[in-house]
Amino acid sequence: MAEILQRYDVIVIGAGLAGMRAALEVDPRLSCAVISKVYPVRSHSVAAQGGINAALDPEDNWKDHAFDTIKGSDYLADQDAAELMCEDAPRVVYEMEHWGTFFSRRPDGRIAQRSFGGQGYPRACYAADKTGRALYQTLFEQSVRRNITVLKEFFVMSLATVEDQVAGVVCLEIRTGAVVGIAAKAVIFATGGAGMLYLRTTNPYINTGDGMAIAYRAGVALKDMEFVQFHPTTLPGMNVLITEGARGEGAYLYNRDHERFMVNYAEKLMEVAPRDIVSRAIETEINQGRGFDGGYVLLDLRHLGENVIKHRLSEIYDFAITYKGINPVQEPVPVQPGQHYMMGGIATNKYAETTLVGFYAAGECAAVSVHGANRLGANSLLDTLVFGRWAGIQASKFVQSNPGVEFPTEALRTQSALIRELKSRHGAEPYGPIRRALRETMTTKVGTFRDAERLRQALDAIEELEERYQRAGIHDRGDIFNYDLIGFIETGFLIDLGKVVTTGALMRQESRGAHARTDYPHRDDQKFLIHYLFSPNSRGQLSKTEEPVVITHYEPKERKY
Ligand code: FUM
Repeated sequence: MAEILQRYDVIVIGAGLAGMRAALEVDPRLSCAVISKVYPVRSHSVAAQGGINAALDPEDNWKDHAFDTIKGSDYLADQDAAELMCEDAPRVVYEMEHWGTFFSRRPDGRIAQRSFGGQGYPRACYAADKTGRALYQTLFEQSVRRNITVLKEFFVMSLATVEDQVAGVVCLEIRTGAVVGIAAKAVIFATGGAGMLYLRTTNPYINTGDGMAIAYRAGVALKDMEFVQFHPTTLPGMNVLITEGARGEGAYLYNRDHERFMVNYAEKLMEVAPRDIVSRAIETEINQGRGFDGGYVLLDLRHLGENVIKHRLSEIYDFAITYKGINPVQEPVPVQPGQHYMMGGIATNKYAETTLVGFYAAGECAAVSVHGANRLGANSLLDTLVFGRWAGIQASKFVQSNPGVEFPTEALRTQSALIRELKSRHGAEPYGPIRRALRETMTTKVGTFRDAERLRQALDAIEELEERYQRAGIHDRGDIFNYDLIGFIETGFLIDLGKVVTTGALMRQESRGAHARTDYPHRDDQKFLIHYLFSPNSRGQLSKTEEPVVITHYEPKERKY
C-alpha cells in the first residue's frame, strides 16, 4: 500500500458551501487544497432548498434577525456569535449575488424573500426551492476561476497532530486504496453533519459525521451534541426534504380529522413556528392517533395555486410526483419529521478557531454556537458562508505567522496498520447490521421525545454495538474503490457520535429546543443554561466539561409563538 505525502499551507476538508467559502478566503499567495470524499457538486449543501436569511429590507433589522435566532435557539446560542452572523448576513447575500447567484426576484427586481419558521419578518432569500444548489454553483464557479486545487474522492481517516498542534490529515485515496498523508500548517474541517445516525433523515449516505468524530478522537471537544434537529416535513419512505419554504409560502398542515392542528401548539405562527415545535406537534398528532396509517400528516399546498407551486416550489413539486405519485397542485402531500441537522459539533469560537492549534471548523460539523438548542430554517446556509469565510481568514493569518510542525509519519503507519489488520480478519461479523442497529436505536430511543429510561437503554445498546464493532469485519479486501472499508470506518465514527449525543441527552435533565425530555418537560435555566462539551479522556471514555452561554442583550425568556 503506497504512502504518499503531499504538502500545503492550508487544507480544507469538505467541499460543500462552508469548505468552498473557506478555500476562497485563503490568501492566494498560500498553497491550498480542498479534500472531498465525493465529487464536490455531490456535497450535501446542494440539497438545501428553502433559503438563506438576511435582513435586507429597510423595514427589517439585523438585530431582529439576531433576536429571532436567539429566541429560536431556546436561548442556548452564544449571543455574540449570533449577532456577528446576522449583522454579516446582508453582506453575504449581496456578495453571492455579485458573484452570480440567481436569486428569485420580486416584481421590482429586488431579491425575493419569504417567511420561514420562527422569523418575525419574511427574510429568507431564495432561488425557488433550490437555494443550496444556486449558491453552490456560484462558489464552484469561483473555485474554478481561482484555480483552487480539489482532491476528489479522498476519505479522511484521522488528523495528524504533534502535541497540541495540527500537522495535516491521513486519508484513503478511494480510487487506489493508497493511504495518503497530506501535511498542512493549517487544517479546516467543513465536513457536514451526521444524519446517518438516524434511519429517517433528509441527509445523504455520505453524512456520517466523519469530521466531528475525527476531531473528537484527536481530543477536540464536541459541543451541544444532544441537540439534533428533526425537520417537520419529509416525504415518508425516502425522507427527502419538503422545504419549510412551502409553509413559508402559506401551505397548511392537517391531521386525519382535517384539523389545522398547529393552532393547538403555536397559535400565532401556526405552520411557520420554529421546527422543534412543529416536529413535536406532528409527532404528538401521530402518537395520539390523529395521524394517518404509516405515521404521517398532510401538507396542503393546493390553495397556493399552480403558478406558485410550479415556480417557487418546483423541486418539491417534482419530488412529490416522482417519489409518491402525488401532484401537489391537486392533492395534499404526506409528510413526517426526519432528522435534518446537528446543532452540535466541533467546539469553535466565533472565528472558527478550535482548541487545537492551527485547526478550524465551520458549517454543520462545527458548533459556534449560533443555533443553540434549535436552528431556525434558512440560518444554516448563512452559517456556512459567514463562518467558512472566517475559517479561511484565520487559517491564512495563522500560516503567515507560524512555520507549522513536521508531519508525524506514525500517523500514517497507524492507519495503514489498521487497514491491513482489518483486511486480514476472517469469519468476522459484517458491520452492516451493527450500523443498522445503531440507527434503529437512535431513531427509537434518542429521537424527538426522550426520557431517562430509553436513553439508558440506548447507551447500553450502543456500548454493546461498540464491542461487536471491535470484532466485526469487511468482505472486500481489495484496494480500488473499496466502499466496504469506508463504510466500516464510518460506522466507527457514528458509534462514537451516537455515544456522545445520547450521553449529553441523558445528562441534560430539562427540555430545551430540539431536546424534549418527557420526564423533565420544562427548560431549567438555573441548572442548564450551559453548553456541554465532550472529549475522550486518557482511557478513551467520555469526559464532560461545561461552558457558560454568552448573553449580550437578550435575557432568556419563555418562548411563545
Ligand atoms: O426546509 C428547508 O428548506 C430547509 C432549510 C434549512 O434547513 O435551513
